[in-house]
Amino acid sequence: MRKGRFNKPMAEVAQRYGASVSFDWRLYRHDIAVDNGLRAIKVEIESGKFRWDESSEDVHMNIEAALTKRIGAAGGKLHTARSRNDQVALDLRLYVKAEIAEIGARLRSLQTALLHLAGQHVEVVMPGYTHLQRAQPIFFSHYLLAQIEAFERDLERLRDCRTRTDVLPLGSGALAGSTIVLDRQSIARQLGFARVSQNSLDAVGDRDFACEFLFCLAIVGMHLSRLSEDLIAWSTSEFGFIEFSDAFSTGSSLMPQKKNPDMAELTRGKTGRLYGNLMSILTTLKALRSSYNRDMQEDKEALFDSVDTVRAALEVFSAMLPEIKIHRDRMEAAAGDPNLLATDLAEYLVKKGAPFREAHETVGKLVAHAAKTKLPLNQVPRQELKKLSPLFDVDVANVFDVRRSLASRRAIGAPSPENVDAQIEHWRGQLVGGRGDLRARRRISRTARRSVPT
Ligand code: ARG
Repeated sequence: MRKGRFNKPMAEVAQRYGASVSFDWRLYRHDIAVDNGLRAIKVEIESGKFRWDESSEDVHMNIEAALTKRIGAAGGKLHTARSRNDQVALDLRLYVKAEIAEIGARLRSLQTALLHLAGQHVEVVMPGYTHLQRAQPIFFSHYLLAQIEAFERDLERLRDCRTRTDVLPLGSGALAGSTIVLDRQSIARQLGFARVSQNSLDAVGDRDFACEFLFCLAIVGMHLSRLSEDLIAWSTSEFGFIEFSDAFSTGSSLMPQKKNPDMAELTRGKTGRLYGNLMSILTTLKALRSSYNRDMQEDKEALFDSVDTVRAALEVFSAMLPEIKIHRDRMEAAAGDPNLLATDLAEYLVKKGAPFREAHETVGKLVAHAAKTKLPLNQVPRQELKKLSPLFDVDVANVFDVRRSLASRRAIGAPSPENVDAQIEHWRGQLVGGRGDLRARRRISRTARRSVPT
């Protein structure tokens, strides 16, 4: 590449500084996808025999050099009507498309694991929390279904990101196409792209798809981190709702009794890296002059790191969740706190005609009275209730039945048993019905047979 224009070889320190092959070798498969004749080189790379050479700078030049070494001068034709600027954009888009598929499949497996758990514990009641304070009763399965929803949005986001990634930049040259005119539509078809970029200047400078992808991965991390945080809290002696399997827990080098939820903590921690990678690429692109600038080489490590991090986290969670032990007794004891039904009590008054704000105040006073007299809310004598509102009647005792409360939460999205069952059925259809991967499908059908509520 330097033979024509330059009189001096590149300074060693400059070469080392600029070389990207130590990380962009990972694009080799996509680099080679473009050139059918390069299969032998691919085999060499995959068998570990290929020698990556920093003096050839990056993956593209390494492959071109290897080809020339093999077939002689004809190898020099590889770069006809092509620049590394459009090529690296192409490779990255192929890489992101492949990873969207892979991460999508892993999200499906995680959803399947969550659904499996929900199916096994459909009827387990637990307190729902806001501000980490006991709020209202829910089913544990409702909690798990909530996680499935969040990961479904991640899948939707990835699908959406894919439509903007699925554009062929090859043929844009360095920035202004080439006097050698390519049939770009045909190349797009061969490489499996839905569309062809319409402006060569934009095509070589566009990394929006990489930013979007990193954003998608950052949100996956955020969802995993929030799930982790719940599980970590629930695995404490204070909650005692769940127990991680020994296979996914660590001990303490000092305290013999410890069993630590490191997988969840690491996932929470790694989410910081995912945010950092997103911020890194956005900052790299900020104020870059249009078209290609070498700064853009800095996009890759962030991208690779986020992909590796999310892939690993999804894999760990899909394996860890099925082994979590659920302590139903502890969850249901906590859900037995009658204060969880204070809102139901206010709604009881509303059903008898009180305006909600007034009912809220009445029950608020009752809760304060119960706390002062150290009585559970459901054991305050009825004459005390009557003092606060004449609308309290004998049937008030019915309010303090958790399952009855849940049964009446029937609006769309609320956790009545019918709704929860219907949601489980819905997700079985989604995950078993074809969109999930094969492995997930096999696992879920086993689950379905075992845990269909009778
Ligand atoms: N390794 C470079 C990158 O990742 C490839 C493009 C180099 N283009 C150039 N004109 N130096 O961005």
